[in-house]
Amino acid sequence: MKLVTVDRLQPGMVVAKTVFGADRQVLLASGMVVKPQFISQLRRRGVPSVYIVDERFPDIETADVVSAETRVEAMAAAKEVLSEVKDRAKSGLGKLTGTEARKVKDQVNNIIDELIQNRELVVNLTDIRAADDYTFGHSVNVCILSLMTAIGLGYEPQRLRELGIGAILHDVGKTQIPEEILNKPGVLSAGEFEEVKKHPTYGFEIVRRQDGLSSLSAHVAYQHHERSNGEGYPRGLIGTEIHEFARITAVADVYDALVADRVYRRGFLPADALDIIAGNAGRFFDPKVAKAFGDNIAPYPVGSLVQMSTKEVAVVVKVRRAYPRHPILRVIKDGRGHPVGEPYDLDLTQHRDVRIARAIDERGPVDPRDVKQLL
Ligand SMILES: [Fe+2]
Repeated sequence: MKLVTVDRLQPGMVVAKTVFGADRQVLLASGMVVKPQFISQLRRRGVPSVYIVDERFPDIETADVVSAETRVEAMAAAKEVLSEVKDRAKSGLGKLTGTEARKVKDQVNNIIDELIQNRELVVNLTDIRAADDYTFGHSVNVCILSLMTAIGLGYEPQRLRELGIGAILHDVGKTQIPEEILNKPGVLSAGEFEEVKKHPTYGFEIVRRQDGLSSLSAHVAYQHHERSNGEGYPRGLIGTEIHEFARITAVADVYDALVADRVYRRGFLPADALDIIAGNAGRFFDPKVAKAFGDNIAPYPVGSLVQMSTKEVAVVVKVRRAYPRHPILRVIKDGRGHPVGEPYDLDLTQHRDVRIARAIDERGPVDPRDVKQLL
């Protein structure tokens, strides 16, 4: 399969991965043949890109670290809880109800169970969300990515649960920020940014006031925008003054924002987003956490195109957790750019003289100015 932006979607292409909305509805079903009216529907709903079957390699498939059902249920729960909190925001800063806390806990437990079962898998897919569902998909992704990092760091179940709840609720404080500010296209004024900077404090209060939730989960919401060098907000904490849960969630939050395709901005490729995270380890992020995070992500996901050090072009066929930068490739073009007669597979762990020089983005170039805004 390969990821195609909606602008490049052509009638006749076959959908490879079902796209769900946050109300559990199917926006696009796997196996469906793309018709012109779908393309306009997807545009209307603000679906930025779609996985389609790559006609060159229909046999290449990939498994997700968390099943589609679990993801959809978690996204629906996130939407329900965040919408309820937001409805109550009119009458002041509230707290989560016991039912809402239970709902979040159940989803986090399901995610943890699956991640532990699928321990050998790495993240190969970018999840696709409609514009309206971005926040809910992001909450679930930040939860999944934080938990994978924590499992890598050796956390036991109780700490995983506290972290996961904090991570899925990390932006719950945004329910208190006016929508005109949150959805404002372009640069925020200084005053508007001051408003946005209050969301971690609001989130802390909302989670903390619910007796059924750990205060550590509340601290994830409070500290997820703190940065190791003290340049974060709201308190400008430094290094280990920031709770490790929040140091983990900070990396997951930035990474997911970097790779997400939005309607107005193409996402970064995983390899580039991982470089940005690694490049800011020690400055914004805890190096130990950034390393544990990176171990869970395929820099060159299954199905993506790469250029090798020999200038040959290949598609990634298989990624193994122990050798993320040395996948099995299928070579499709020779060093001069000519298609090879019969594509053949090459295991980079067996050919240490050859390496991947760069990932090829079939969607075209990304705007480098986007990095600064997202860190
Ligand atoms: Fe945030």
